[in-house]
Parts: sequence; structure tokens; C-alpha cells
Amino acid sequence: MSDAPFVGLSPDQTLVHGAPIVAPQEDITRHIGLSLGADICWPTCYEHILERLDLKIPLDGKKVAVEAERVTIEPFDLRQGCKYDIVLDRLTHWYHTSREWIKKATVMDGLYVLNNPWALQSMEKQTSYCAMMRLGLDVPDTWMVPPKAYEPLPDLETTLERYAQMFDLGDIGKQLGYPLYMKPYDGGGWVGINRVESEEQLRQAYEESGKRVMHLQKSVEGFDLFVRCVGIGPQIRYVDYDPSQPLHDRYRMTTGFLSDAHRAKLRAITLTINSFFGWDFNSAEVLRRGDAFHPIDFANACPDSQVTSLHYHFPWLVKALLRWSIFVAVTKRPFRHNPNWAPYYSVADDEGVEDKLTGYAAIAEAHFETERFEAFCREHLDHLDEVAYEFFGSDTARDAVRQKVGALYPEHEVDTFTELFMNRIEQWRQAEGHQKDIL
Ligand SMILES: Nc1ncnc2c1ncn2[C@@H]1O[C@H](COP(=O)(O)OP(=O)(O)OP(=O)(O)O)[C@@H](O)[C@H]1O
Ligand SMILES: [Mg+2]
Repeated sequence: MSDAPFVGLSPDQTLVHGAPIVAPQEDITRHIGLSLGADICWPTCYEHILERLDLKIPLDGKKVAVEAERVTIEPFDLRQGCKYDIVLDRLTHWYHTSREWIKKATVMDGLYVLNNPWALQSMEKQTSYCAMMRLGLDVPDTWMVPPKAYEPLPDLETTLERYAQMFDLGDIGKQLGYPLYMKPYDGGGWVGINRVESEEQLRQAYEESGKRVMHLQKSVEGFDLFVRCVGIGPQIRYVDYDPSQPLHDRYRMTTGFLSDAHRAKLRAITLTINSFFGWDFNSAEVLRRGDAFHPIDFANACPDSQVTSLHYHFPWLVKALLRWSIFVAVTKRPFRHNPNWAPYYSVADDEGVEDKLTGYAAIAEAHFETERFEAFCREHLDHLDEVAYEFFGSDTARDAVRQKVGALYPEHEVDTFTELFMNRIEQWRQAEGHQKDIL
């Protein structure tokens, strides 16, 4: 029988029950955009490892290559197209031209972005506390209070005179009990955080809070573990965190500090939060006291990604970002513009469901396509572990770390801290460099 194609079929057509008549040769390239600010180290590592992966992923009889490029800032026509399949964005929370370009591209051009800019614009700590209280998580009791001071807007006085109720801050303090935390309802980066031990301190902190709208939150005292759960798609890293240390020692290097049951619980909490809000990349801070887990801060728009704080955990972050973004780009995972909260509320309100968290987690795992993602990684990214292992031992990696250290530390400390972070990365290589954990 002849190998010649049947007349009348175009080269990319296949026989329904047979092999392709002509194997189409043209390659496809998927484009990943990096929308960056002051980031130095992780994008450099990400780009180098991506290049070394040399991907040619088979898809519908074609080979898919993946390229990354840094997104530039420039004027744009709202009707112009967008070449990227996914953008990893680090600017949304403060650089609005990029944010608005990204919003345009997701609305008009099918772009997938990590993270969803609307979710970040509209969902502050406040919304995240409310939503997770609604789902029954152990968020500490929290009050919001009107601000101490105001911009003198034209309608201000009339509005306050008509509607603002006098209140006694001391009464709220008594209801919550001391110690408590007074912190901005939309905060981040440890700005405006007050630990308050008494009514006097509460009044003082309120006096000093100025125009910011504040939360008063009951303190979780006597916790035995502070975990930062860094989630990227369905992948989670659990980090033992010590906020009392200087920045480079807060993420501790301990591993194996969670029982399987606690790990599963934290996975369920983190994925519930991230899928509920549509955050592909987020860091959830949870305090453990005995068997109880109290999430205290889990609306982190732009999670810490710097080698200077993550050090030992940094290679995990780069690998997890690569896996998730390559998966999204190659499979053209559709971007979810709007959250869908009804299924979570159905679980919350269903008296027949005893273990709510497991119910939410099932929705979350489906949202993040955990099984499909794992299968994709096994099939197409199996070499990532070895490539990353080699890379993080290279001079290129050392250079990238050094550049980041040079940007943050005084000249005379650059050598010492580069060495410190490289040693910790080396510790990671020895301990975990060859492991094949995807989730
Ligand atoms: N309810 C609480 N109970 C115990 N400690 C708390 C509580 N709220 C805040 N803290 C402490 O204050 C720190 C800062 O609070 P929070 O994380 O809410 O602020 P943030 O500005 O978002 O900080 P970051 O940017 O580091 O996440 C926490 O890391 C924790 O040590
Ligand atoms: Mg925090």
C-alpha cells in the first residue's frame, strides 16, 4: 500500500480510524510573559532553567516549544492583540498601566494571568477574613472600626454628623480581650501592625492610625507553630516561619515538622482559599494551636519570591512557577475571570456534609486540575528536577543570587550573604535536589 496522502485531505487532517496521513512538521511556540518590577533573581533562574529544559512537547501531532520574555511598559492600543499565553505578574498591586494592560488582554485576547487582577483589586484582607469565616474556618474574631482621621471631602461632615455613631474603643477591646492586633484592613508588608496589650495601648494605636481603616483582631496566643503555606496552582510548600527573626532567617529550614493529617488539613485550607478567590499564587499564614489551625493573613497579592528571604525554599518556588506556567501555557488552560462561590456555600450550608473542609478541598482540587497537572508534569517535565539540580549548582545561579544580594545589602556584606544563601541552596540540593515531589 502506498504511503502517499489521499487526495483531497489537507496536510493537517487525520483519518478518523487511522494514523496521520502526513505528520505536520511545523512547531508551535507558547509565550510566557514576565511582568516584573524589582525582581532580579527568580526571573533569571526561571529563564535559564526554561531554556535548559529545551521543551518540545507533543500536542496534536505537533511539537510545542515554550519561550519566556519580559513584558515591557509602553503605550498600547486597546484593540491590539497579545502574543502571550500566560503572564506572571508582579506589578498589579501598585503599577496600574501594566495592570490595565493585563486586564485588557484577559478580556479581549484570552490571556491567562497569575494572579487575577480583579481578585487583587477588590479582595483585601477584610474580604478574605469574611469569606473564610463564612466557610467556617477558625479566623480569629475581628472587628473593623471607622478611621480616626479623614481627607476633608465636601460631603464628609454632613455624612458623619448624620450617620456616624459614637463608639467606645475600650468596649470593643474588652469584647475581644487582650492582647489583640490592630492592623490595616487591607494591609501587607508589616505596615501599621500594632500588638496591643491594654486599653491604653489600644487608644494610643488608634490615635496614631490616622486615615487608615483598621481591624482589631484577637491575638492567637500560645500557638505552637506558624506556617506559611506557599501555593502555586495545586502545589504547596509548607514553611515553618518565625516572624521574630531578621528577614533572612524567618523562613526556617526545618522539614518534616507536620504530621500527614496536619499537612492534609493545611493543604485543604490553602487550596480552598486560593481557589475561592482565584489566586494561582498566594501565601497563607496559619497559626497552629494543638489541633486547631487559625488562618491570620491569607490575601497576599504578590507573595515573597526573593532568594534573600526564601533561600533554602527558593529552588522549590522557581520549579513550581515553571511547572504551573508551562502547564497553563501548553494546555491553554482557560482563565477564570469571575469567581464562583456558590459551590462552596452549598457545602457550607449542607447539613449532611460533616467535614466541610474536605468538601471545599474537592472543589479546589477540581479547579486546579490536580490530577491532569500531575500527569502532565510526569509526562513532559520529568527532567525538570535534574535540570534544576544542575542549574542551582552553577555559576549562573550564583551570579543571580549575588545580584539580588547586591541590590539589598551594603557592599561590605555582599560576599557574606551571597555565600550564606548559596550554602542554603546547596543544602536544598543535597536534601531535596533529586526528589520528585510535584505537589
Ligand atoms: N491574630 C493574630 N494573632 C497572632 N499574631 C498575629 C495576629 N495578627 C497578626 N499577627 C502577627 O503580626 C504579623 C503581621 O501581621 P499580618 O501578617 O496580618 O500583616 P502583614 O502586613 O500582612 O504582614 P506580611 O506582609 O508579613 O504578611 C504576623 O506575622 C504575626 O506575627
Ligand atoms: Mg502576614
